[in-house]
Amino acid sequence: MTIHFIGAGPGAPDLITLRGRDLIARCPVCLFAGSLVPMALLAHCPPGARIVDTAPLDLDAIEAEFVKAYEAGQEVARLHSGDLSIWSAVAEQVRRLKARGIPYSITPGVPAFAAAAAALGQELTIPEVAQSLVLTRMGGRASSMPPRETLANFAASGTTLAIHLGIHAIARVVEELVPFYGADCAAAIVVRASWPEEQVIRGTLADIAARAEGIERTAIILVGPALGAEGFRESALYSVDYRRRYRGA
Ligand SMILES: C[S@@+](CC[C@H](N)C(=O)[O-])C[C@H]1O[C@@H](n2cnc3c(N)ncnc32)[C@H](O)[C@@H]1O
Repeated sequence: MTIHFIGAGPGAPDLITLRGRDLIARCPVCLFAGSLVPMALLAHCPPGARIVDTAPLDLDAIEAEFVKAYEAGQEVARLHSGDLSIWSAVAEQVRRLKARGIPYSITPGVPAFAAAAAALGQELTIPEVAQSLVLTRMGGRASSMPPRETLANFAASGTTLAIHLGIHAIARVVEELVPFYGADCAAAIVVRASWPEEQVIRGTLADIAARAEGIERTAIILVGPALGAEGFRESALYSVDYRRRYRGA
């Protein structure tokens, strides 16, 4: 009897792994985390499955669901949006399961930043322009930011930033980033990436806030020179001179 945490992907119901889908199909209990988990995924649940939206539940109530299923010998599919390694609240659930000796597994999912990059049709790392990607978020009521995890600290690297949970604070994001990237640095906002109502907004730090007016949630802000890079050097990976293991030295 295992609790299977499954990354449900960014929104499109076919952006889930085969493993995740198969786990949903075999678990008689499915707990899903509110509106960001695509409802169409619930169609994979077996007939008669107990399906619970955990959005209105607190952690004690969610734990009670796990315990109830465990004691009944029922496996659980536990769905969270995107991937589970970032902002999924899996850590606190896993801690409670470990304390009770209840086994669990984790199946990765497609994170929203990857769906946003796909919507932009772009790579977020570009040779000699940006070779790192910072996944960060704006602090909120549910979680404050550790003191050294400031936008300024991340921006000092000059690399690509993917800012989550921050669209409501877009003006502050711009204000904090302009000193590091310059007002003409490329920026983009992807709203509900991979959903039918997906929206892509491109601009620069100078105008992105105005372009995003009226957008309140479920968006990623991407900033950095990689987004606007054109005349960059090709990577060595496919160069004719690049001798490597799989192409014969
Ligand atoms: C609590 S975090 C969950 C992140 C998720 N675990 C992941 O792997 O992407 C929710 C935030 O992720 C971003 N997000 C989630 N789904 C998104 C989507 N389809 N398009 C754009 N941003 C999304 C938004 O910034 C949203 O406020």
